[in-house]
Amino acid sequence: MFRVGIITASDKGSKGEREDLSGKVISDILERKGYIVEKYIILPDNEEDLSREMIHMSDDLKVDLILTTGGTGFSKRDVTPEATINVCDRMAPGIAEAIRYYSLSITPRAMLSRAVSGIRKDTLIVNLPGSPKAVKEALDYIIDSLHHGLEILTGRTGECAR
Ligand code: MTE
Repeated sequence: MFRVGIITASDKGSKGEREDLSGKVISDILERKGYIVEKYIILPDNEEDLSREMIHMSDDLKVDLILTTGGTGFSKRDVTPEATINVCDRMAPGIAEAIRYYSLSITPRAMLSRAVSGIRKDTLIVNLPGSPKAVKEALDYIIDSLHHGLEILTGRTGECAR
């Protein structure tokens, strides 16, 4: 089964001033689908810290998937996309596009998400929005296709034929 790292980007969450419901939503959905959550961490909205953790999860823990939540909006502290771009070898823009496309049918504010998705070595990294509601909407929409992408990335299947 695929192994996952979850990173919540939140200044308040990292100081214990806000309960991280979004990280919990992600792990609940993934565990129900049979994924193994290898590591879950809450970090402040700091580009360097976020990039370093992504590198650790990818290169040392060798997780198949990293999901982030939060830090994709317009606030000056929102730097999750930049931290992700820093560490990716190849971008996979279709996933972030699909999330925005679907989310726009729910709220026009989805256009305010700057989320990105990409690949570092053998690890897929996907930014999800910050609120628990938005995270659930986005992850439910992409999860099945994500699974197929991971099968290809990890060499468990070489073709897309159904
Ligand atoms: N996507 C979905 N599916 N549902 C939502 O309610 N909210 C949007 C957007 N994406 C939303 C959504 C809003 S209001 C913002 S500001 C951006 O995500 C960025 O959120 P973040 O900074 O918490 O990551």
